[in-house]
Amino acid sequence: MRFITVFFTLFAIFFTTAVGAKKKAPIIDQDLAMREYMVEITRQIGVTCTHCHNLKNFKDSSKDLWKVGAQHIEVVKGLNRHYLKQLGIEKVDCYMCHRGKPKPNYKEKLALTED
Ligand code: HEC
Ligand code: HEC
Repeated sequence: MRFITVFFTLFAIFFTTAVGAKKKAPIIDQDLAMREYMVEITRQIGVTCTHCHNLKNFKDSSKDLWKVGAQHIEVVKGLNRHYLKQLGIEKVDCYMCHRGKPKPNYKEKLALTED
């Protein structure tokens, strides 16, 4: 009887650990992927994380630049997924416009005398 109890306890521990590990893995991957993406966009617009984030809480979305960043992430995803995918050129990223600068100089130069 005691043997059976011990056996079931061990089995229960093993089972919950195994299921727990299985459930947790994708969450860690997502977090890593998010951080890698964040490092990439930060580099492409030439800033640091504090540009958009409160470093004490990365979930805090109250900064104005966080909101602009979120909109631009949507723009990039939208262009790639909805318009460029069928053409086979899903190549839009922050760098395309920003060129490593937080505020891209996007205006067409009309006169040769302009900077
Ligand atoms: C241009 C603004 C911007 C910059 C710069 C930026 N982030 Fe973010 N970050 C965001 C936005 C917007 C989200 C929400 C994205 C989403 O939910 O799809 C986010 C989400 C995150 C999250 C997930 C938070 C959560 O809800 O769990 C982490 C972690 C994070 N950023 C870390 C970083 C780190 C580290 C850096 C610097 C390497 C960085 N970010 C730079 C705008 C920015
Ligand atoms: C289609 C072109 C384009 C793409 C792609 C783009 N941006 Fe922008 N972004 C702009 C323009 C234009 C401005 C406004 C510059 C100004 O106000 O002079 C801007 C401004 C911003 C600002 C506000 C800067 C400030 O100081 O006011 C943030 C933050 C930003 N972009 C983040 C991003 C991120 C992150 C990505 C990639 C996920 C991205 N952008 C992709 C064109 C783009």
